[in-house]
Order: sequence, then structure tokens, then C-alpha cells
Amino acid sequence: MAKTKIFADRNLKVGNIDQNIYGSFLEHLGRAVYEGIYEPGHPTADQDGFREDVLALIRELGVPIVRYPGGNFVSGYDWKDGIGPRSARKKRLDLAWTSIESNEFGTDEFMRWCKKAGVQPMLAVNMGTGTPKDALELFEYCNHPSGTYYSDLRRQNGVQQPYGVQYWCIGNEMDGEWQICGLDAESYGKKALQTARMLRWADAKKADEPGAVKLVVCGSCHCDMPTYPEWDRIVLEQTYEEANFLSMHRYYEYRPSSPDPLMDFLGSAENMGEFIDTVKATIRYVQTKKRSRHRVNISFDEWNIWTVSAPRTAPDWVSAPALLEDRYTFRDMLVFGGLLNTLLNHCDIVKAACLAQLVNVIAPILTKKGGGVLRQTTFYPFRYASQYGRGETILSISDCRTFDNFYGEAKRINEAITHDAQERQVCAFVCNYSENAEDVELELRSFGDLRCEEFVTMQSADLGAINTFDDPARVVPVPQEPCAVCDGKAEVRLAPMSWNFLRFRY
Ligand code: AHR
Repeated sequence: MAKTKIFADRNLKVGNIDQNIYGSFLEHLGRAVYEGIYEPGHPTADQDGFREDVLALIRELGVPIVRYPGGNFVSGYDWKDGIGPRSARKKRLDLAWTSIESNEFGTDEFMRWCKKAGVQPMLAVNMGTGTPKDALELFEYCNHPSGTYYSDLRRQNGVQQPYGVQYWCIGNEMDGEWQICGLDAESYGKKALQTARMLRWADAKKADEPGAVKLVVCGSCHCDMPTYPEWDRIVLEQTYEEANFLSMHRYYEYRPSSPDPLMDFLGSAENMGEFIDTVKATIRYVQTKKRSRHRVNISFDEWNIWTVSAPRTAPDWVSAPALLEDRYTFRDMLVFGGLLNTLLNHCDIVKAACLAQLVNVIAPILTKKGGGVLRQTTFYPFRYASQYGRGETILSISDCRTFDNFYGEAKRINEAITHDAQERQVCAFVCNYSENAEDVELELRSFGDLRCEEFVTMQSADLGAINTFDDPARVVPVPQEPCAVCDGKAEVRLAPMSWNFLRFRY
């Protein structure tokens, strides 16, 4: 069996890893909020109705930032419906998910929950039915200290200090024909610019001061959109100097009808990398055209595996129906691990990312109404990456074999190597996409005297295996014997079709 050699040198950095690449997303969709993070009367609910068992898993997952309240939902959402005394809150039709929104949970509840969860909020404003004025008023409600109508309304609602929300998404997927009041690129660019300027003017800090607001403008919904990548160029040409981030979204799906379903699915990570490269090139193109010194980064604020084509079975016009509750298989986890590697390997430009979503809706955490919580298969690679994928990503060069798939060519051994100088730690996240065991040599000589502290593997003979409430530990990481390191070379045998994590110290 030919050995795969992977070489990484500590002086060849891809970039610094922003912790916000381990963000996630909570939308008013299905049971994400109601029966997900919020369920008054649940045995673990606190006095605010926040489920402590869910909070514990979110802390374990290591999520630093959470985008809210949508998603498609935000394009029809009036944030003013979700504040003030609960008894006076209006029920509304949610056209995005044909559900009833009770508005029992709104901005103040989300902020309180964030504090409890130890996460930073990333708020999205409505650019569908909403106006720049609505966005400004939400900003005033959240961030202005006092002495104006909306800041005093917040105080009246019991919150004296401003929330100081730093991350603001200006709309969601505005090029999607499914988006409530979607727009063409020129119209969105203009509206986003006007909104961005108003938020900047309202911010107490200058754009380049630490703590100033960070604004995310909408890129194309995904790379199969007919408008991609022209949409991104046009929007950026209008908003470049005000934007800090351009958003990217992408979901991958296992398609049994595809010519080679498994290999095509395993090609996803490579495709995500090409998508990022193109958007990065578009950003640089606009920057150069504008002769600007300002840097715009990528907020990959929706990514995951999602069986988009699966029918939605919940009836219309009920509150919190069970929607998009994907059960993640071992195979999904393998692709998911590769997607995480792609984000790490593009950390020079991807400075924020949100796993979509966090609880119940295409999520790593599932809840039972009145019952327990479950870690799906994808929970684990995310937890390892958020805990250990810190510091910087090191460029890795490998000679591994490739396989053909729907997207083109992809590597059989898909890896990301990170270095945390403070912890004197080097980590390797490695997916083996081969149906055979593979010998891998990791050449890490430049880090000096390394020892392997931890080696864990996720592997299953059944690619369709899932974790269930009855069998919650069917697909979990299994500790292995740490590997030997000789002359800066670590030799390891990777199980067929496996996700692996190796941690070294020096
Ligand atoms: O995350 C589910 C949905 O996917 C979001 O509401 C939308 O932004 C995307 O199309």
C-alpha cells in the first residue's frame, strides 16, 4: 500500500484562525427556538424558559457567536412584534416557513440567552419587507445607551445597559427567488449601502476603531445561482467601503440518484474550497478596481449538510412544527469533517462562519419535547475543531491520490493542520475518503521535538449509521493509541472511510 506523505512547515501559514469561524445559527424555523433552546415547563428550564440541558451541549460544542433570527424568516420579520410584555405580542404568519410565529421569544430573550450561553450575538436585519429605518431602529434599541425613543423602550423593557451588538447581517439571501421581497443585485446593493451607512452613523465608534460594528452584506445564496458570481461583484462595487464581510452560504447533500453517490458527496469539501477561492477573487477584483486599502472578508454564515430535496412534512400554519430535522449519518459526518477542514484551510479570508443550524433544524443537537437531548454524528468533529483548531492554519502539502467526482477531482486524504503557539500544540484533522486503510506520514519536523498526545477516530462499517435517543453513542469518537513520532515524522494508519484527530505537543 502506497504511503501518503503530508508536509507542513510552521513558517508557512495560511492565516490566523478567527474563533468566529466556529459560529452557529438559530432561526425562527421549526423547533429551533421553541422546544429547542426555549421550552418553559421543561424539567431543565430555568426561570426564563431556557433549557439548561441544551445550553450545556452548546457550551460543550464551543460556539462563540450565534446568528439570529434568520435566515429566510428575517425577510418577513418585524422585530417590534417580539419585544415588550408577552401578553401584548401579536401572532403573525411566517411566510418563509408557512408557520405561525407566536413572538413569545424575541430580541430581548435572545440577548439574555446569549449571555447565559456565553456567546456573542450576530443579528440579521430585514431587507425584504423591512426598510433601512427599521434596521436603524433595531440598532438604536440594542446599542444606543438612552435618551431616544427606542433606547428608552429597551430600558422600559428592563434592560438598562445597551447590548453592544457588534455583528450585523444586512439581509439574508436577497437573490433567492424564495426570499420574501427578494431584490436584484443593483437594488439590494443600494439598499444595503443605505442601511450600512445608517448603522455606521448610529454607531458610537468609528469604522476602524476596535469594537466598531461589523457589517455583513449578502453574497449569492450559493454557487449554483444563475446570478453567481455577478451578484457578488455588483453588491461589492456598491457597498465595498462600508462592508466588513461578504456572506456565503452552501449546503451539501447526499443524492442517491447521482452517478456515483458516495464519491460525488465526498467531493463536497473540494467544491466548497473552489467556491471560497472564487468569492475571494471577486472581493480582490473589486478592491483593486476601487484602488482601496480596505479589506473585506468572508462570513460563511450558513454551511452544513442538508437534504434540501427531502419533502417537508409538517402541516402549514402551526407554531414550531418539526421542520428540517435531518438525522445525520456517519457518511454525513465524513463530509462535514471535510467542510470544516476547508474552512480552516481558507482562514486567511473566512473570518466568520456559522454552522446552520444549532438545534433541531439541520443541527448537531436534537431535543425531545419534555425529554432529553442528543448529540448527532456531526457534533463531534465540530467540537474537536472548535476546541483545538485554534491559532493558525499551516499550509499542508500532500502527495495523496485523488478521485473523480461530480465536482471534479478531490483528495482521498483530506486534512487541515493547525498550530497553537501559545499551547505549543499542533493538530491534524484528517478524513480518509478511501475505502481502504491508508498509511499516512505527517512530516512536521519544523515544530521540533513533538509527541502525540491524542489520536481519536470515528469509523463505522455502516455509512448510514446514526445516533438516536435509544442508541445515542452509535457513532462517537474512539480513542486510539497515540502514534509514534520519529525525526519529526508521525506515522499513522487511518481506518477506511474515517474521520481522525491527532494532537501533538512540543
Ligand atoms: O438554514 C435554512 C435556510 O437555508 C435559511 O433560512 C436560508 O437562509 C437558507 O436558504
